[in-house]
Amino acid sequence: MFVRSLPALKTPLRRGFTSGTVSGLVEAIGNTPLIKLEKLSKETGCTILGKAEFQNPGGSVKDRAALGIILDAEKRGLLKPGGTVVEGTAGNTGIGLAHVCRARGYKCVIYMPNTQSQEKIDLLRMLGAEVYPVPAVAYENPQNYNHQAKRHAENDPNSVWTDQFDNTANADTHYRTTGPEILSQVGGSGNIDGFICATGTGGTLSGVSRYLKENAKGVQTWLADPPGSVLDSYIRSGGKLKHRAGSSITEGIGQGRVTNNMAPIIDQMDGSFSIPDEETVEMLYRLLDEEGLYLGASSSLNVVAAVELAKVLGKGKTIVTILCDGAYRYQTRLFSRTWLQSKNMESAIPDHLQKYVVLP
Ligand SMILES: Cc1ncc(COP(=O)(O)O)c(C=O)c1O
Repeated sequence: MFVRSLPALKTPLRRGFTSGTVSGLVEAIGNTPLIKLEKLSKETGCTILGKAEFQNPGGSVKDRAALGIILDAEKRGLLKPGGTVVEGTAGNTGIGLAHVCRARGYKCVIYMPNTQSQEKIDLLRMLGAEVYPVPAVAYENPQNYNHQAKRHAENDPNSVWTDQFDNTANADTHYRTTGPEILSQVGGSGNIDGFICATGTGGTLSGVSRYLKENAKGVQTWLADPPGSVLDSYIRSGGKLKHRAGSSITEGIGQGRVTNNMAPIIDQMDGSFSIPDEETVEMLYRLLDEEGLYLGASSSLNVVAAVELAKVLGKGKTIVTILCDGAYRYQTRLFSRTWLQSKNMESAIPDHLQKYVVLP
């Protein structure tokens, strides 16, 4: 198994020394390490591995989707030099798109729900994107951020709506990159027993699951869902969508419908867990304290779910999940006592980890 437990030392590049270099930002996306979570692996008797997607240049797993949908739009002739990319995004896809647009000379326009963190909105603007935070309303409402993005593109002939939720170039990029990387990093078929992660668009779960089911013998693929999302109940009820129950402090995950990206794989999911926010918050602080990993809430939820899957599959198994992004974009929330209290999450943090709540 080729799992990187310690990061390799990077040798500073010398003039004329090109081995191991990549060409520009675009080629720096992907090929992230697969990190063994030592303490949790010991605790569960399984090997729990996290794909370090926070190491992508834009800081999240969504760099892959952003690059995949832009390359696809170029290939299909929808995006011409100097054109505009328009997207509805909770933040990370927009950040990935803004980076790739700068690197490839496109204008970037982003619509997002105004419930998202200020850090993400600020960063998008710093990256040169035009940002429209709009009221967070259901998908059925024509004012939903995705519909507003689509209308914006329809009114500008030089632009393309990249449609991350239903554009299957998103899942395809994970099928072509994330899935094969994971399989090669664990040492090939027979060396991975479970894959689990939460979904926003479903691109990551769908693309990776499809690849693993085709290429890794006996692997199970599971969904992890936050409160307020309907997919857990969809899978458990054998395909009957249920109403949303509650809401979540997580960002970028949770879904009210089966997107085109999820549709080809959802009926092949082996199971699903709904993860309470309290467990996500506790794990977020544990990962920091025990593994030295400073991660956002969707990553933490994924790790809670990987531990749950370890209990289901039994000792000795290898389970992979996604470490989607770092905590840097959410620190004024996740590490603020006032914010945690306002969400009734302060008591979810054990006494010995309270020292990490450093912001008032
Ligand atoms: C932090 C974070 N985690 C997870 C996801 C979900 O990834 P996907 O859209 O591939 O389902 C997103 C999507 O935006 C995200 O921003």
